[in-house]
Amino acid sequence: MSLTPVLTKRFGTDQPWKIANYERLDGYTGLRKALTMAPADLITLVKESNLRGRGGAGFPTGMKWQFIPQDNPKPKYVVVNADEGEPGTCRDLPLMMNDPHSMVEGIIIACFAVRAEQAFVYIRGEAVHAIRRVTAAVEEARAAGYLGTDILGSGFNCDIVVHAGAGAYICGEETALLDSLEGRRGQPRLKPPFPATNGLYDAPTVVNNVGTLASVPYIVLGGADWYKALGPGGSPGTSIFSLSGRVKNPGQYEAPMGTTLRELLELAGGMSRGKDIKFWTPGGASCPLLTAEHLDVPLDFDSVMKAGSINGTSAVMIFDEDDCIVRAVRKWSEFYRHESCGKCTPCREGTYWYVGIYDRLEAGEGTEEDLETLLDLSDNILGRSFCALGDGATSPVSSSIQYFRDEYVAHIENHGCPFEGARTLAGAH
Ligand SMILES: Cc1cc2nc3c(=O)[nH]c(=O)nc-3n(C[C@H](O)[C@H](O)[C@H](O)COP(=O)(O)O)c2cc1C
Ligand code: SF4
Repeated sequence: MSLTPVLTKRFGTDQPWKIANYERLDGYTGLRKALTMAPADLITLVKESNLRGRGGAGFPTGMKWQFIPQDNPKPKYVVVNADEGEPGTCRDLPLMMNDPHSMVEGIIIACFAVRAEQAFVYIRGEAVHAIRRVTAAVEEARAAGYLGTDILGSGFNCDIVVHAGAGAYICGEETALLDSLEGRRGQPRLKPPFPATNGLYDAPTVVNNVGTLASVPYIVLGGADWYKALGPGGSPGTSIFSLSGRVKNPGQYEAPMGTTLRELLELAGGMSRGKDIKFWTPGGASCPLLTAEHLDVPLDFDSVMKAGSINGTSAVMIFDEDDCIVRAVRKWSEFYRHESCGKCTPCREGTYWYVGIYDRLEAGEGTEEDLETLLDLSDNILGRSFCALGDGATSPVSSSIQYFRDEYVAHIENHGCPFEGARTLAGAH
């Protein structure tokens, strides 16, 4: 297995974020080609490529674009989800820092395909460096005639606004993001109606992830068959896997969808402390944990689901046999308690109760009954919360009890953590 740089092909070249360097390596040739096509044919191409959204849910992108009702007289919008708040995820920021024009080019093509003249990039507020970089790229694209009126003489008008969020994980949820973009407190909206019909300012809106849109120029240039050949049929293309934790060389590794963790670990130099892997996330903290027995699961949407988890954001956090599961899940639960927007009771109260119980377990005051309460809480949150944040909060709790119940019991019987001086990575910040 080797790296397959598509989205990362310009990383490491001379200042790839500058438009002249971007153009030198095929930049904006996808847009030139797209503008010669009919918008409906572009949507068909993206559908045929079977590109699936990289924001987490893996929704087919072409289908999402096709849902935009063209008989609706309101303006149409494309909104880029660049909030990247999922714990362990570090993929969109490096992409925007190294190659912002690939996303900008993808946005313009998406706008042309769904007949939108205005796009917004919603970037999390802490990422000031990325906000500056993307803003500069948009200005360069405008100055070069790729944005503005009558783009490249096609008669198509399009512009992009870069918007800084305020650093709330919930604002990555697409409808909370739209509320935040409209100037309201970021809380999820009831679905349906979906953004495709009633999105930003109640108008038809496509919400796509940074990596999803950055893939589009390559698909326009390379064609659907080329893209499909890059990965398994149900989840083609490549993914930027962000490896972190107990791994020798943490970082971003672009490889075909369907690459296994065993192969990724080879690329990343193996485990950092020479210990065996104990548990890991295939796509961020909101996915059920996997263990050593899952090292050969192909990391694509369908195979990971078959293995009992979710591909999510391809954020692979790796823990070894000296890491304490209770400590790790406690830290994630604290994150969800903090980030719960409070709109619905199961998530607001459930995540609060999670943390109380984990505090007790760690303090050596936990009981067997606490384990049942954790499972009961998970049962009451999963599927009963208003948005997927609540569901995600249950994933590490339920899966850790499923795989490591003995370790929870050891905390109870030992009256505290059996790992002397244990500090997990999740707890080491
Ligand atoms: C709590 C929560 C946080 C999310 N954060 C992000 C995010 O930071 N970036 C992202 O692209 N999608 C995020 N999503 C998923 C979005 O709601 C949406 O599915 C995605 O932006 C769609 O883009 P795609 O079709 O290109 O995958 C989040 C979802 C939830 C429930
Ligand atoms: S599940 Fe959590 S984050 Fe989502 S609406 Fe309910 S309280 Fe808010």
